[in-house]
Amino acid sequence: MYLAKGVRTQVAIVGAGPAGLFLAHLLHRQGIESVILEQRSRAEIEGTIRAGVLEHWVVDLMNDMGLGDRLMREGHFHSGITLRFGRRSHHIDMSELTGGKRVTVYAQHEVIRDLVAARLEDGGRILFGVSDVDVRDIDCAAPRVLFRQSPDGPMEELPCDFIAGCDGFHGPSRQAIPAACRREYQITYPFGWLGILAEAPPSHPELIYANHERGFALLSTRSPEVQRLYIQCDPRDDIANWSDDRIWSELHRRLEDGSGWTLTEGPVFQKGIIGMRSFVCEPMRHGRLFIAGDAAHIVPPTGAKGLNLAVADVLVLSRAMAAYYSTGSSDGLDGYCATCLARIWKAERFSWHMTTMLHRNPGESAFEQRLHLAELDHLVHSRAAMAALAENYVGLPME
Ligand code: FAD
Ligand code: DHB
Repeated sequence: MYLAKGVRTQVAIVGAGPAGLFLAHLLHRQGIESVILEQRSRAEIEGTIRAGVLEHWVVDLMNDMGLGDRLMREGHFHSGITLRFGRRSHHIDMSELTGGKRVTVYAQHEVIRDLVAARLEDGGRILFGVSDVDVRDIDCAAPRVLFRQSPDGPMEELPCDFIAGCDGFHGPSRQAIPAACRREYQITYPFGWLGILAEAPPSHPELIYANHERGFALLSTRSPEVQRLYIQCDPRDDIANWSDDRIWSELHRRLEDGSGWTLTEGPVFQKGIIGMRSFVCEPMRHGRLFIAGDAAHIVPPTGAKGLNLAVADVLVLSRAMAAYYSTGSSDGLDGYCATCLARIWKAERFSWHMTTMLHRNPGESAFEQRLHLAELDHLVHSRAAMAALAENYVGLPME
């Protein structure tokens, strides 16, 4: 679509990832107009392979918004996960431990496809392929976003009441908060994940998280025909060093437990390596700019929290904006950072904990390795410890 000159909107949203798209839908439900400016094409955002697990309240939210049909048909609903270490497997029954909440596996790009299609069907404005996005005048009552609709087109501007920076970790929005006004906290990890998509039937009815002396491995799924698997690797490694045979050999060694269960192989059609970090930017607001999702925080993927946290931020933001437009009260907007950060730091803690407990740190002593195994052993033999893991994994309550 093309945005006519002189158009203004209530909320200019930078980025059509989960944060930007959920926000546009949530605002629309409250009668608030928005325009999304996205630098990539629709095909690119719908084809990028990322996260896979949805918290229970995100599933409820998608259903409430009328966006859950395909999710309910094609998603995978598991009662728990399996933890594997010391050559033994331990089932953690999340549903039993959390009063019926389930683990839902539905890929991020499927969520994106559902949200984009529904938004466009509703007449929503999403501009794909924009460039040179620049957020301006965020300290004033009339902020603007500057951008080009085509690479060699003129610079244009979108005046608005608020800007939502939903542009991921590398986007420009966070940088628009003056450095003197923001504090950034971060950890980088000395390992990454090599992820593959393979054409194969499921090997196991639920996700397996494995702590093995050769490093972490994770078995997940996408469909009856496609499986998603990860192994811990050096984040600086070149994917060219990993032949399919080498990947399968590592997966077999790290995931199989000696019980006779075997992993089913199949042709690998996508593979890549990602680094890992924990990161939080405070505050998440400056004047009329609100940042949300990966623009404001990053978690390592082990706890499957990244996408879910992005949705939590924009749910809080949409409620605050709805209150502002209907009553004139800024209380919700003023409380945005504190409300979001309370959840974010809990997810940061959980993701860091899952990551350190399940991975082998190349610099780790034998003593530390024994501590991680003791922690896992305690976990699978303590109902209280399993319940704590389960309530964080399926998602802490949103209210
Ligand atoms: P994003 O999804 O990053 O969306 C931001 C959007 O903004 C993008 O579409 C981008 O193109 C756009 N944008 C950026 N800059 C500009 C600009 N200048 N102008 C206009 N648009 C711009 N989480 C898990 O839980 N499990 C996983 O397995 C997992 N795997 C991941 C793999 C990778 C490679 C990455 C990068 C992340 C992964 N995550 C995972 C994290 C999860 O995908 C993110 O937390 C989630 O996508 C955050 O959503 P978001 O909308 O905040 O940001
Ligand atoms: C998937 C990704 C995760 O980070 C995780 O913890 C579980 C599953 C996935 O891509 O399916």
